[in-house]
Amino acid sequence: MEYVLITGASSGIGKTFAEEYAASGSNLVLVARSHDKLGTLAARLQNNHGVDIQIFSQDLSLPDSAEKVFAFCNSHQIPVRTLINNAGFGYDSAFDSMPLEKIERMIVLHMLTLVKLTRLFVSSMKERKNGQIVNVSSILAFAGVPYNAVYAATKSFVLSFSESIREELKGSGVSVLALCPGLTETDIYHSAGIDPHSTLLPVGSSKKVVQDAIRALESKKPYTIPGFLNKLIIHTGRLLPRNLLLKIGMVLGRRTKSKINRASEWQAE
Ligand SMILES: NC(=O)c1ccc[n+]([C@@H]2O[C@H](COP(=O)([O-])OP(=O)(O)OC[C@H]3O[C@@H](n4cnc5c(N)ncnc54)[C@H](OP(=O)(O)O)[C@@H]3O)[C@@H](O)[C@H]2O)c1
Repeated sequence: MEYVLITGASSGIGKTFAEEYAASGSNLVLVARSHDKLGTLAARLQNNHGVDIQIFSQDLSLPDSAEKVFAFCNSHQIPVRTLINNAGFGYDSAFDSMPLEKIERMIVLHMLTLVKLTRLFVSSMKERKNGQIVNVSSILAFAGVPYNAVYAATKSFVLSFSESIREELKGSGVSVLALCPGLTETDIYHSAGIDPHSTLLPVGSSKKVVQDAIRALESKKPYTIPGFLNKLIIHTGRLLPRNLLLKIGMVLGRRTKSKINRASEWQAE
């Protein structure tokens, strides 16, 4: 009776992970702040697929939240085989307009909580010689991104951290994948009234992102960039000098800035 634990399971990519894993017969632990959304999703998936689903509503941008998730799993005797660190939010603004409170919450959610959850669950995975960790990064991890400075830096951290521990864990039975999606049509944009299609970048579906991630996990890749065009953009970009990449990022950032309300957060809170 092993479980897949998914953070940020109430919408978007996390919700799609829940749907895919439930359809393949996995038991789930769903974590996010929106208790009602988690409850509705859990009821539907339990009903459709006959799997066991536990929900735990928790704000993961609080520094002690990972310990609370771990304690919940221990108290319910839930062995976690697969950990999907997916919860995240964006804040599209010039760095000097980003409130300190948002900076702190983003850094805790994207970095501290992700690292702590990984640290807390990896020991039992190693003991069982069976475990999988998916850390959701972004294509923005591969270079600095003007107007998304903190977001891109946290996603670079996720990629670097995941690649490092993957090497450490080789041969232990625990695999680690960094998932680096490009623009994906989810609530992260809808809740702020942003049309991701208004940018110059390709837009994918959360289903394709999740199916790509599950394939990459099975073939034990270190990271995956879902979508041919996204791969092409990132791999071509890696051949360019970093300062040229930043200038391109600046142009894209300004273009996006003219299309959206720059003060809006990508994800409703
Ligand atoms: N969509 C894209 O274009 C894109 C591209 C690259 C990477 N990503 C990454 O993919 C991941 C999922 O994003 P998404 O696009 O699926 O966005 P989404 O639809 O807005 O979903 C975000 C999820 O994270 C949860 N979350 C946000 N803040 C939280 C907090 N403080 N505590 C607990 N849970 C929290 C939300 O649940 P509650 O609101 O219920 O807490 C929600 O379930 C994020 O890490 C994002 O950075 C997205």
